[in-house]
Amino acid sequence: MTKLIWMTDPHFQTEGTIRGLNPRTRLEAAIEHANTHHADAALIVLSGDLVGDDIERDYQSLAIHLNASAIPFYPMMGNHDDRPALRRNLTLPETTTSEFVQFVVELPDCTILCLDTHKPGSDAGTYCATRLAWLDDVLTHSADKPAYIFMHHPPLALHLPKQDEIMLEEADSLLGLLARHNHVKHLFAGHVHRPTAGTVRGIPFATLGALSIQAPPPRPEWDWNSFEPAQEPPHYGVLHIEDDSVVLQYTQFCKYDVGVRN
Ligand SMILES: [Fe+2]
Repeated sequence: MTKLIWMTDPHFQTEGTIRGLNPRTRLEAAIEHANTHHADAALIVLSGDLVGDDIERDYQSLAIHLNASAIPFYPMMGNHDDRPALRRNLTLPETTTSEFVQFVVELPDCTILCLDTHKPGSDAGTYCATRLAWLDDVLTHSADKPAYIFMHHPPLALHLPKQDEIMLEEADSLLGLLARHNHVKHLFAGHVHRPTAGTVRGIPFATLGALSIQAPPPRPEWDWNSFEPAQEPPHYGVLHIEDDSVVLQYTQFCKYDVGVRN
């Protein structure tokens, strides 16, 4: 059995708050909770939107915070991330490609693939021919074990109107490739700041609430300029992977009001 932790969208800022929320407090609470209850996990995937606008300083400070974890972190690119700054400040596995921050982690029972869907200057994502070629090659050479895919941008519309505007663009080629590799067992995507689950082309997928603010549900309607974060507690995912099953436990790690400025 393999046990993994999945966290997403910390939107870490060295200073200040996001819509009244202190993202440092939330990240600290998540790490402390994982250290206390899941120190036996093999790793933590952090699926993008790692920092705020003070990019270099935020990555530097984030790196110090991540050092408090007893479980190794694997950081990924989101739309708010910067490849050169991420590479300069955070530890990445040796398998990380030179052009994109995407990598593979070989575990005894499964293969973890972390994709880079970042599109500079856009909140939407993309997955170009170069990245597809890498993914096809890795999947072709890892067909002896189940493969689990992590990516920031979901490759399908989730009936969340605001998030669907900034999903992965031209997802058809990626989904076609994944569907051709029968050992791809599950997709996990960040970005939407809400938990959803379903299947796409027969492949199960899930999204996760953020470590930071939770996006409101789609009704009543809202927009990016004026929305109030949902008053829901944050969570991370605990994944239990076995030969014939994978279970995702949505795990609340603190109360809603932790880090919320009243
Ligand atoms: Fe985000």
